[in-house]
Amino acid sequence: MAATDSVAPLERGLAVLRALCASREDAVRPGDLVRETGLARSTVDRVLSTLTHLDYLRTDGRAFSLAPRAMQFGNAYLAASGLPDALESFAVRLADELDESVSVAVPDRDGARFVVQIPRRRTMTLAFRVGDLLPAERCAPGALFAPHWSTEQRAQWSRRLTSRRLAGGGASTTFSPLPPVPGSPPPQEIESAFDERATTAAKAGWALDDQLIEPGLIAVAVPVRDGTDGRVVAAVSVVSHTSRHSAESLRDHALGRLREAARRMEDELAGSREPATLRRASSPPSDSGSSTGSGQAPRGLTTAALIDEPKRDLGAHYLRSLARGLTVLVALGSRRGGMTLSAVADATGLPRATARRALITLREEGYADCLDAEGRLFVPLPAVLELGYARLCGRGIEELVRPHLLELSTQVHESTSVAVLRGPEISYVARVATSRIMQAAITVGTRFPAYATSMGRVLLAALPSAERDARLAATDLKPLTRFTITDPAALAALLQRVAADGYALVDQELEEGLRSMAAPIRDHRGRVVAAVNVSMHAGRIDAEHARESVLPALARAAARISADLAAMGDRLDLGAA
Ligand code: PHB
Repeated sequence: MAATDSVAPLERGLAVLRALCASREDAVRPGDLVRETGLARSTVDRVLSTLTHLDYLRTDGRAFSLAPRAMQFGNAYLAASGLPDALESFAVRLADELDESVSVAVPDRDGARFVVQIPRRRTMTLAFRVGDLLPAERCAPGALFAPHWSTEQRAQWSRRLTSRRLAGGGASTTFSPLPPVPGSPPPQEIESAFDERATTAAKAGWALDDQLIEPGLIAVAVPVRDGTDGRVVAAVSVVSHTSRHSAESLRDHALGRLREAARRMEDELAGSREPATLRRASSPPSDSGSSTGSGQAPRGLTTAALIDEPKRDLGAHYLRSLARGLTVLVALGSRRGGMTLSAVADATGLPRATARRALITLREEGYADCLDAEGRLFVPLPAVLELGYARLCGRGIEELVRPHLLELSTQVHESTSVAVLRGPEISYVARVATSRIMQAAITVGTRFPAYATSMGRVLLAALPSAERDARLAATDLKPLTRFTITDPAALAALLQRVAADGYALVDQELEEGLRSMAAPIRDHRGRVVAAVNVSMHAGRIDAEHARESVLPALARAAARISADLAAMGDRLDLGAA
């Protein structure tokens, strides 16, 4: 594989994406990316326009931020490795048994990267996310991974320790979640202390983190090995706080169960080794949620025809080989146990020579590797998670829907909101207020009876009929205005209608003078999990007009939000209904 076979636009595109993901700001200006990457402004602009066109980034015209679709990259690694699918349930059980946080990390170059996080933090400590990378010398899993490092990894680690930029974590971009160590000891001391911890850990079969990351945070970890060659493929940690345990008492408390969980994880990995198509990677795009003319690229893999098309319109502002390379990266997640060049070419619809050059580049960039000595089977590597995964995981529903509500409000010149169902009520999770009506009264967390609101009706209508009837039966159906429908049979019939129409229009039933219209928001499984609405002054716009002028924009916003939710998959926490 000659270096000349690599793809320059893909290399540059990855450099820009990496710099954007490592930035402390959520929205990054092109000038900052020029400075960080050393690339020409024109190159950065082309990369940004390509990534924006592919919906990996969004822009307000000046700065760029990650879009949920960028989770595809990290998902490709998680799916191909099969680790979250295989190990998460054991981690959940362990966290329940011990009533402490549990995480699973994998070795990534000279660090440990989280692939499972089951948090149970009571005391203020850093909460890491799936995708976050810790330096090996500052966490429990690192001491378990280090004895298995190659000479190259070891050298990389030593180089990092001696380079001031990365050693303390202060200005580190690689380890951005970490606080700096005040008065960090000289590299030689860190090196010998870590070597000692790693040797002890290898002998004992467990490792401790006694406040290596921050005061109060303690952890004990054990290795998870591959059944065939004994390689340490992951480490499972129990994480606590000094207000509950000392490092030693945590070890005494947790080690037995931790070892038992690791043994079960090893059994599971051995049993699930046959290459299998993975649920998370390959589940078909969920039905109607994203079937819209919103311009959103379909969920899942973008194949050759779609990748090449924008070239006609965007010309030099569209880097086709960057788009193709990223598609190859995402495609690597469609199968476990590695993919051959032919399989990648088939999955993407790209010519073999194109797919091959992309794979070579991804390998050089540290995002893919060959599983076998013959170089036939390609897999994505954990470093792929640095391309925005942790960052996007940390976003909540409000952050996710806000740009869509702003856009919708701008289009229809009315207030817009998103709410979820909580028992018999709706609870607001986001709102953009433009109109005068009820402006002050509604904030995030505000609740209203579901039966008298458009969002509530959309959410009730999506329930199985038995549950819908039960919720209505448990609700005190009071008239809130002269117009409120309170007859259970009439309401049941209305909800049938709403389910069939796919939207609800409620006219002055919650408050006189207020008319509102709502549409359902679906998750990656196609389930209705939230609703978006537009609220209008009843005097300004009649019901028919509202349907004509507002409904199309509302439906598009619902589809766009649903597509973002689909991209987030299981990673978005909507709370319990
Ligand atoms: C964590 O999951 O947050 C964690 C795990 C191991 C450590 C520190 C933190 O050493």
